[in-house]
Amino acid sequence: MRRFLVAGNWKMNTTKASGSQLAQALVAEVPKENQAVEVLVCPPFPYLTTIGEIVKGTGIGIGAQNCSHEAPGAFTGETATEMLSDVGCRSVLIGHSERRHILKETDADINLKVKKALAAGLQVVLCVGELQSERESEQTDAVLDTQMTGGLAEIDAAAFDQIVIAYEPVWAIGTGLTASPEQAESAHQYLRNWLKSHYSSEIADATRILYGGSVKPDNAKELLSQENVDGALVGGASLKAEQFIPIIQAAVELSAG
Ligand code: 13P
Repeated sequence: MRRFLVAGNWKMNTTKASGSQLAQALVAEVPKENQAVEVLVCPPFPYLTTIGEIVKGTGIGIGAQNCSHEAPGAFTGETATEMLSDVGCRSVLIGHSERRHILKETDADINLKVKKALAAGLQVVLCVGELQSERESEQTDAVLDTQMTGGLAEIDAAAFDQIVIAYEPVWAIGTGLTASPEQAESAHQYLRNWLKSHYSSEIADATRILYGGSVKPDNAKELLSQENVDGALVGGASLKAEQFIPIIQAAVELSAG
């Protein structure tokens, strides 16, 4: 049984004060003894320590939104995985579509980051997903194959206890357009089969595949109830406690059966 993971990607939002308030609201509402669902928040780098202190000792973990593939040194403006571990990060998002498409990260860049983050002992949330034009030209599977093959190049089976995949169709991110449960399930099935054919049935069965793209309280339950959807990577709705908490709650209810 795969444990749901509900992660909030705050992107380049919040202030120290508003992020702290949000984290405090989550701590108040997410039961500490919650074992059913893993909860993660990914604040901007400058706030990782502050938010980390607020959620410390609760069931909520912190993750970064990106990392460098380099060891600490002369890389102005970059953030090393060693630093993320040092401030208590459990996880790091790698290959988010905004980094792929706005900041022009390639699959080769992403692969280097995946390797570095795994070596640092971080949980990697590898994001993949197609553009609207790619979906319309029926290239979704081919794009997912390229991103998985590139991002996971030379990654051993043994690393998969640290790897989570997030399927985020680019056309559904921040647009209010959500993949239908059937569209999400079909892409998730493709990704699980990909893991089976490139690794093993055991890895395919155990690896969590999250859905991201306009997840809201009113669509979370239907998306999360798809067989191959093991959690959510939430952008906009993770910035409001009154929206993020019901999404976590939906996962808690579903995992109770
Ligand atoms: P939205 O939930 O705002 O569509 O963002 C999804 C996302 O990009 C999470 O990483």
